[in-house]
Amino acid sequence: MTDVLAVDAVGVTKTFGAVRAVDDISVRVKAGEVYGVLGPNGAGKTTFLRMLFGLIRPDSGTIEVFGRTWDEAGVGVLDGVAGFIESPKFYPYLTGRQNLEGLALLDGGVRPGLLDEVLDLVEMTERADQKVGGYSYGMRQRLGVAASLLREPRLLVLDEPANGLDPAGIRDMRALVKRLAASGLTVLLSSHHMDEVEEICDNVTIMRRGSVAFHGSIADLRAMAPDPGHRMVTSDDDRAVALAARHPAVSVVRDPDPDGRPALAVTGPQRQVSGYVASIVQADVELLELTPTQTPLEALFFMLTDDETEMEGAR
Ligand SMILES: Nc1ncnc2c1ncn2[C@@H]1O[C@H](COP(=O)(O)OP(=O)(O)O)[C@@H](O)[C@H]1O
Ligand SMILES: [Mg+2]
Repeated sequence: MTDVLAVDAVGVTKTFGAVRAVDDISVRVKAGEVYGVLGPNGAGKTTFLRMLFGLIRPDSGTIEVFGRTWDEAGVGVLDGVAGFIESPKFYPYLTGRQNLEGLALLDGGVRPGLLDEVLDLVEMTERADQKVGGYSYGMRQRLGVAASLLREPRLLVLDEPANGLDPAGIRDMRALVKRLAASGLTVLLSSHHMDEVEEICDNVTIMRRGSVAFHGSIADLRAMAPDPGHRMVTSDDDRAVALAARHPAVSVVRDPDPDGRPALAVTGPQRQVSGYVASIVQADVELLELTPTQTPLEALFFMLTDDETEMEGAR
């Protein structure tokens, strides 16, 4: 029983006219994990999640949720599944609590105490008696999670839960997903931020124009990641470039800022970059700035999902 997959989607395809929004993708989510579907805008993430919720039907392929398919079980597939697509909708002139009470009624009632529990879990207890109309976007998203939790799901599906949030909102949402995961809930979320998926997911499917560009664990992904890049500013770039000759694993090239300020782009394995930087400091070149340009996983994400590179190659 425990090895029944939360989600087992096989060969799922959906086209809208000429657009293949989802093209033969397979996604297996194990019970208890946090699974990320990552991809740039238009990759097909929402379309995939909408099929999971039965809002639209796949043209081909099958989607099993906890071992049940839409064809066999109809809406019964959604027993134990909750979440929201894009953003949750509430009545703005009612309070957060009233909105949840209304939803609980529509669902045939919830067990006593659950409403307060979920408000607490999403850290909305203090704001629960204020009108939703006055909530920030992040608070609405968290209330959306609370509304989903009222159904006491085994699988929570969140479509870009951190999209449009400010940095504090993003931090709170990530912390919330981690708390939910720690409680044993299976979470399937979509995102277009590699750092979010890296921070909170166990396994990931990276989508690119409807297809799977990568499938696997975050650890596998890290192993594939290119060397990190840095932007470096020194007091003597000529010497800094010359010193790079003794560090063959490190690439150092001139890469001025858009406004013409001189800078160097330094790429290489982290240890070797550290050794190189130590050597220029020992040679009395002053290090004025050293900043990472992209995390290796971000660089990998852009490599895997960048449309332009491939289209240029194809021309
Ligand atoms: N109802 C629809 N009708 C026509 N095209 C759609 C529809 N829904 C999505 N698409 C198209 O499918 C592709 C994938 O969209 P979507 O699943 O929303 O991507 P994502 O959520 O990853 O940003 C896009 O090219 C989008 O324009
Ligand atoms: Mg989307």
